[in-house]
Amino acid sequence: MLNNIGIIGLGVMGKAIAQNIGNHGYTVSLYNKTYEKTALFIKQHPFFSGFEKLNDFVNSLEKPRKILLMVSANAVDYVLDQLLELVEKEDIIMDGGNSFYRDSERRMKQCAQKGIYFIGMGISGGEEGALHGPSLMPSSDHAAYVQVVSLLENIAAKNDEGDACVSYIGQGGSGHFVKMVHNGIEYADMQLISETYMALKKNNYNNAQIADIFETWNQGELFSYLITITIDILRFSDEEGEVLDRIKDVAHHKGTGAWSALSAIEYNEAVPSLIAALQARFISSKKKVNHAYDNDEQVDDSFIDDLKMSFYLSKVMIYHQGFELMKKVSDENNWGLDFTEIARIWQKGCIIQSAFLKKIISVYREGKTLLEDEKILQMIDHDQRNWRHAMQILIMKGVYAPVYLSSLTYYEGLSTCLGMNLIQAQRDYFGAHTYERIDKSGFYHTEWQRN
Ligand code: 6PG
Repeated sequence: MLNNIGIIGLGVMGKAIAQNIGNHGYTVSLYNKTYEKTALFIKQHPFFSGFEKLNDFVNSLEKPRKILLMVSANAVDYVLDQLLELVEKEDIIMDGGNSFYRDSERRMKQCAQKGIYFIGMGISGGEEGALHGPSLMPSSDHAAYVQVVSLLENIAAKNDEGDACVSYIGQGGSGHFVKMVHNGIEYADMQLISETYMALKKNNYNNAQIADIFETWNQGELFSYLITITIDILRFSDEEGEVLDRIKDVAHHKGTGAWSALSAIEYNEAVPSLIAALQARFISSKKKVNHAYDNDEQVDDSFIDDLKMSFYLSKVMIYHQGFELMKKVSDENNWGLDFTEIARIWQKGCIIQSAFLKKIISVYREGKTLLEDEKILQMIDHDQRNWRHAMQILIMKGVYAPVYLSSLTYYEGLSTCLGMNLIQAQRDYFGAHTYERIDKSGFYHTEWQRN
């Protein structure tokens, strides 16, 4: 019976998860690089044990020890190297930070050489999730996972059915990989909401009206945590007025969305909406060109409904891309990722939690993808013209909408001729790269004539 755990790292997430674990009746030992933080935390939460020295911290733990690292990704190696000098065979080290999945694979091997178990675990939910119940994506050593599963189930968020939002993801770094794709989707979800906000703003809706529109969208199948917090943000004022209006038009990032994009490129997978969201943040830092396009033409009332439907279909494209990326990488690494389970554990606790995940669960349970689902395909057939019309309005109003537009063009790319015959002909023309034919198998070269 596991009732004792050590946590290293008392940043925002470390502190919150420590409290969550403590609230579930476990005894918790704490260590942080700077002892002042530990001392302060212990003062506020006297039922935790804090240690100034790493070896005292390690010695305080029952064997086999369970140690959760909650340090920033670039500090994991440093901490792990020190820890590996102190722990003993069969102890378990879990990395709950936003580590790059390949680093987790390397660290798992490094630990295995000393007979130490390693669990690379994606954790999502920010401070609130970590405190009240995050979504957990543990992977790597299954033998270690079974020893900590009860702890993880206790502290994880619970979905509407009461099931814990944690599941063993798979071998190697798959847990951190899935968390990384979660973040790639998170960027796209956030950007889509932001583009909607701008579309409404450019049509003269104020923050309060935009919040009201989002509130109606949030009642049904578009419900999401990200829309919920957006409504709060849009309605928030302090003594100087609406805070949102005073925030600079520049977004930052800490790298996980970029890792998703790079992985997609590495594995030849198309995730244009995810990449568009990342690049939107890059573009926001660039120097502005002072020639904005203004168009005051009024749009008719149907625009809001069309935008809502476009939002839903863009979400379909975003998640289709994210899940296709996971499938590709899972197949190539033999991880055997279970997409129904992944959607299930994202239902609560994490940043991208939403009603839409229920749809994904039902589709993957039938062994289909989102773009093989009859209802979604019928919706596309029925609403396609309005979807295109809404996108036309975004363009004509000069709304910056890279995720909306790349989601439509992603669908376009999957459903129409792409003109790649001409690309192949060009490649063959200048480099004899050959092309495949529609009527025969094999690769062909033509001696193209220069006119
Ligand atoms: C989560 C979040 C979190 C992430 C932040 C910041 O699931 O709890 O994904 O892990 O670090 O959202 O991400 P950016 O700074 O890259 O936007």
